[in-house]
Amino acid sequence: MRTDYCGQLNVSHLDREVTLVGWAHRRRDHGGVIFIDLRDREGRVQVVFDPDTEETFATAERVRSEYVLQVRGRVRRRPEGTENPDLPTGEVEVLGKELTILNTAETPPFHLDDDTVSEEHRLRYRYIDLRRPEMLERMRLRSRITRELRYYLDDNGFLDIETPILTRATPEGARDYLVPSRTHPGEFFALPQSPQLFKQLLMMSGMDRYYQIVRCFRDEDLRADRQPEFTQLDIETSFMDEDQIMVMAEEMIRRLFDSVLGVKLDDPFPRMSYQEAVRRFGSDRPDLRVPLELVDVADLMQGVDFKVFAGPALDPHGRVAALRLPGGGELSRKEIDDYTRFVGVYGARGLAYIKVNEVARGREGLQSPILKFLPDEVIAEVMQRTGAQDGDLVFFGADKAQVVNEALGALRVKLGEDRGLLEGEWKPLWVVDFPMFEWDEEADRWVSLHHPFTSPKEEHLELLESDPGNCHSRAYDMVLNGTELGGGSMRIFRSEVQQRVFELLGIGDEEARDKFGFLLNALKYGCPPHGGLAFGLDRLVMLMTGARSIREVMAFPKTQTAACLLTEAPSPVPDAQLKELNIRLRKKPESHA
Ligand code: AMO
Ligand code: AMP
Repeated sequence: MRTDYCGQLNVSHLDREVTLVGWAHRRRDHGGVIFIDLRDREGRVQVVFDPDTEETFATAERVRSEYVLQVRGRVRRRPEGTENPDLPTGEVEVLGKELTILNTAETPPFHLDDDTVSEEHRLRYRYIDLRRPEMLERMRLRSRITRELRYYLDDNGFLDIETPILTRATPEGARDYLVPSRTHPGEFFALPQSPQLFKQLLMMSGMDRYYQIVRCFRDEDLRADRQPEFTQLDIETSFMDEDQIMVMAEEMIRRLFDSVLGVKLDDPFPRMSYQEAVRRFGSDRPDLRVPLELVDVADLMQGVDFKVFAGPALDPHGRVAALRLPGGGELSRKEIDDYTRFVGVYGARGLAYIKVNEVARGREGLQSPILKFLPDEVIAEVMQRTGAQDGDLVFFGADKAQVVNEALGALRVKLGEDRGLLEGEWKPLWVVDFPMFEWDEEADRWVSLHHPFTSPKEEHLELLESDPGNCHSRAYDMVLNGTELGGGSMRIFRSEVQQRVFELLGIGDEEARDKFGFLLNALKYGCPPHGGLAFGLDRLVMLMTGARSIREVMAFPKTQTAACLLTEAPSPVPDAQLKELNIRLRKKPESHA
């Protein structure tokens, strides 16, 4: 139906007869001449209709926003002074000779140029929202990214293999989405939180190298970088160790950035232990663009007359840390209050601070409501350790270590953004040496930091029973600009070790056999050493397109409450359907919010 894309016309097409199809982006009447900006996937071009061609002109008069048109015309240079340098096609226009309205359109719920439309409205009419050049560009880049990733993996001998969506629960730590079985009344499938066990089984099947671009389902609290269904680039290999896997994975990402964005990432990516990341940045996914670091001061605070500090300083699970903000002395009372509220979201009960007017004058040169609690030598040592300079401000967090890490870790990033401190554009790293387990206070038991199939370090095997808290795993996470892009590990490949880990996690023999019998069995029949990792594809595309949320890089995302506004899913189902599935609702939901 077309000879060219609207958005690709330029001076090389001058005097050419073209046939274009697309949407009427805008129609303007100018003293007897009608201009229609015709838009397709590649962009838009100005089409001019003059009254000489009477019938065509009359048709043009009927055109409204988002009508679907076919135009035949001749490309000509725009008259001098009317070029539009903002438009790639801005040097030319098409003199329309024939115009067919292929379809009309009702007045759209919003104009594509309107950037004040609410996200809710955009999601409800996603097919219109996706027409916006910005969205098209993101989808195009996403497609380009998956293509490059596939090429790389294919070139390196990875087989693309699909795994089931209707399956058993996979423990990645979120709630499962369940699907009732009609043929097995009272029983349910779970949608995979990841293909973890299947990809391990593929290694046991001798597939050697596997990858898949695959949908994962997790019923968890949603955030800007979390969706209930999202896409992973999932990878698994046999007979490679963690070093080889990390080298290959980062080469893949480096090539991707180079070919798609022309960006050269570090070679190699720096590696940092989990312990160091948490100590210096309060987070296991540190944003290394922010040049601020946490400094431990608990040892100085154990004897001070300020319970807020002394308590956590004496608590083995506590932490007291300082965070110096260069030039922060200029923060207003209100700004400090706002930051105090900000850390409150992470559970911090306050945000103590010292304003540094003049370091050399000691106590006299400082300003803070907590100075009165701190002896001279403690103050001096805090200034020393944080490297405080005149004009700085030093924040403090004191609480359970986890609260301090989350609060100051998030504050560090926020200060970096608010104060324009970010250094460098892309800061990837590997975080390694994760603990195998963390203690879950609420559940009163150990839980896996990654998943229960992650291998402990060989030299830490003994600690599984004697000191689980200090047992490290063979896991690794790739982090970019403060986002966990991907993570993986070497897997347990001996059934005896797998059983010991299950035991430690409080998964008894019977439960293990019930839930993971197939895995334990498979481990017995010749399982190769294997490992792998999975990237959050949506997060990768989000970072590469500079989008603020993964919703911006998914064609049809869900809302924060895990609903699809476009199709209005989830939705109630007829009783007959429930009956067929052997399901009776406990209580009829009153209305569907
Ligand atoms: P993990 O649970 O760390 O590991 O997930 C891998 C990557 O997937 C992305 N991700 C998400 N993206 C969007 N929305 C979500 N709700 C979401 N949850 C996770 C993250 C994360 O780094 N089977 C293991 C991988 C392995 O061991 O090989 C797994 O799924 O970017
Ligand atoms: P208060 O004695 O409660 O008024 O607190 C004195 C200062 O300590 C205030 O600036 C509080 O914001 C701060 N503060 C209180 N609790 C904490 C905490 N857990 N961590 C860091 N600062 C705190």
